Amino acid sequence: MDNPFANATWYIDPVWSAKAAGEPGGSLIANYNTAVWMDRIGAIAGPEDGDGLGLRGHLDEAVAQGANLFMFVVYDLPNRDCAALASNGELRISENGFQIYQEQYIAPIVEILSDPAYQNIRIAAIIEVDSLPNLVTNLDEPDCAEANGPGGYVDGIRHALQQLGQLDNVYSYVDIAHSGWLGWSDNFSQSVQLIGDAVSNLGTGVNPIAGFVSNSANYTPVEEPFLPNPNLQVGGQEVRSSDFYEFNNYFEELSFVTDWRNAMINRGLPSNIGMLIDTGRNGWGGPNRPTQASSSSDLNTYVNESRIDRRSHRGNWCNQAGGVGFRPQANPHPGVDAYVWVKPQGESDGISDPNFPIDPNDPNKKHDAMCDPNAQNRYDNSYPTGALDNAPHAGRWFPEAFQVLVENAYPPL
Ligand code: BGC
Repeated sequence: MDNPFANATWYIDPVWSAKAAGEPGGSLIANYNTAVWMDRIGAIAGPEDGDGLGLRGHLDEAVAQGANLFMFVVYDLPNRDCAALASNGELRISENGFQIYQEQYIAPIVEILSDPAYQNIRIAAIIEVDSLPNLVTNLDEPDCAEANGPGGYVDGIRHALQQLGQLDNVYSYVDIAHSGWLGWSDNFSQSVQLIGDAVSNLGTGVNPIAGFVSNSANYTPVEEPFLPNPNLQVGGQEVRSSDFYEFNNYFEELSFVTDWRNAMINRGLPSNIGMLIDTGRNGWGGPNRPTQASSSSDLNTYVNESRIDRRSHRGNWCNQAGGVGFRPQANPHPGVDAYVWVKPQGESDGISDPNFPIDPNDPNKKHDAMCDPNAQNRYDNSYPTGALDNAPHAGRWFPEAFQVLVENAYPPL
């Protein structure tokens, strides 16, 4: 099938839904689909750890709901989150991580998904958020350099795609970060090469990937309605040369994923590949949302008064005061299979306290200064991180963040 999201009954994760519905205003979003994250080996079995339903539990629930679309995230590569600390994972390349990933992580997932009880469910697999993008831009980090070698991210992702690609009801979408990371022309062309190579020639008998997913767990808008043209001149300079856009060609996900899809088709991927955009937190509504383009003739004033993305810096990725974005929906634009909610609203991006307690589920998760509201952005230390305070570990429930997202929803709830 070309687009698994079209005309589907989308699964509602009862665990997330109950937490959402328990927050003020949360019932307005609690009945939408959100991705289920398989963020460690223990998450596959689930109940034994006392945390979540496990993969089989979710799929059984999907059957019970009469749902035929289930979306989950494959997220346990060795050296995971190699350029940051908040979501460092359980596997290391130097400790046999690739073999463990294959045997104890991918194999049991594939075994469960192969159960005939689930054959009528279209399973969308989001493949390894932020991994290949780190190989494009962060090889100066030792963990990323190692992840660029044998048993690293490319080997892991190819293995996952080959195994999942044996199942006709699994649709894999590979993560391509977002326009604020890979949108510069040098990053874009290197990504086309690296990610394009990683998903090519997967072997005979393997279904090709369904497409790619952008903005997973990030905050970059689908469109910047008052900045449609990066080359517009203001005060004699292009808006893309402003402090906020730093000469990036892409201000928004829609033009980024459109160009990405065309680049991949030009490289030989099937013309029916589709894109997904995570719109869970990129709505940017609320009282500070601009309602028209600025009339200033000063470039930075013009950009800052016109953009809906209210971050002080586009690199701010941890617990931002964004807003719920477009509701999950199929075929919102040509070439876009769906808007989806990959990062469930209310789940933290990382712990804010530098003197943090260890998370027993994921003892390698650490404090990343990008999650500290009192720290400066490490990519450009003239800006604050903008992170919300009192945040728990990545993935843990963070009611204050949920509240902000609901209040700043756009379109309004
Ligand atoms: C965390 C995962 C979590 C996911 C969804 C990631 O940042 O590392 O543990 O499942 O976010 O909230």
